[in-house]
Amino acid sequence: MGWSEWVRGAEIEPSLYASDMSRLGEEIRALLEAGTRVFHFDVGDGHFVEPITIGPIVLQWISPIVHDAGGVIDVHLMVENPAKHFRAFAAAGGDSVTFHYEAVADVAATAAAARDHELQVGVAFKPQTTPEDVAEVAGAVDLVLCMSIEPGYSGQAFMPETYERVRRLRALIPRELPVQVDGGVGVENAARLRSEGVDLFVAGSSVFEGDDPAAAYRRLTELVR
Ligand code: DX5
Ligand code: ZN
Repeated sequence: MGWSEWVRGAEIEPSLYASDMSRLGEEIRALLEAGTRVFHFDVGDGHFVEPITIGPIVLQWISPIVHDAGGVIDVHLMVENPAKHFRAFAAAGGDSVTFHYEAVADVAATAAAARDHELQVGVAFKPQTTPEDVAEVAGAVDLVLCMSIEPGYSGQAFMPETYERVRRLRALIPRELPVQVDGGVGVENAARLRSEGVDLFVAGSSVFEGDDPAAAYRRLTELVR
């Protein structure tokens, strides 16, 4: 199993970073019932990005809940030296790891190290990195993540240049390779991103900020399927 089976046409991926961590299990169960298949788990190390977020200790508690319901966990590693952590995230129940283009010297070798742990693998790129640079290494991964904000925090504004960046990326990589966007995704931009060729939509605040994350998830899903 991998990204090609996990993506049912298009997927909204709730980013747990924006959830109420005092009720994490409950929030996940409500979204699973609403049809969520893929959960996004953001790891920040305080070096590659400013904040320290969540890691394997939290992941190990939630992964059985997600897996029992047939879901998967997509780990976004906003960290330096990501390969050092693959073993721990695989052991804690992560299904895929996405590391940053800017954080590694060799994308193909880093991807191969993730596969050694039976993880699916993605490469993410920041707003200053060009889609052309990333397209050159996309053959080594299962997913490409085009950041639509500076990585670090939930709740930032979507960068409109993302539309054009996704279009350029899509023109250079095979259609079967899923493209993900992360940052400021919501009802205002999801449909247009879908038309530019996005398959996976990470959504933090737009799912969790109101009082009904399940309803927000369903509404966003209708916009992209
Ligand atoms: C931050 C993370 C995102 C974040 C998105 O850099 O990578 O996944 O949770 O949150 P929103 O959707 O609120 O921008
Ligand atoms: Zn993320």
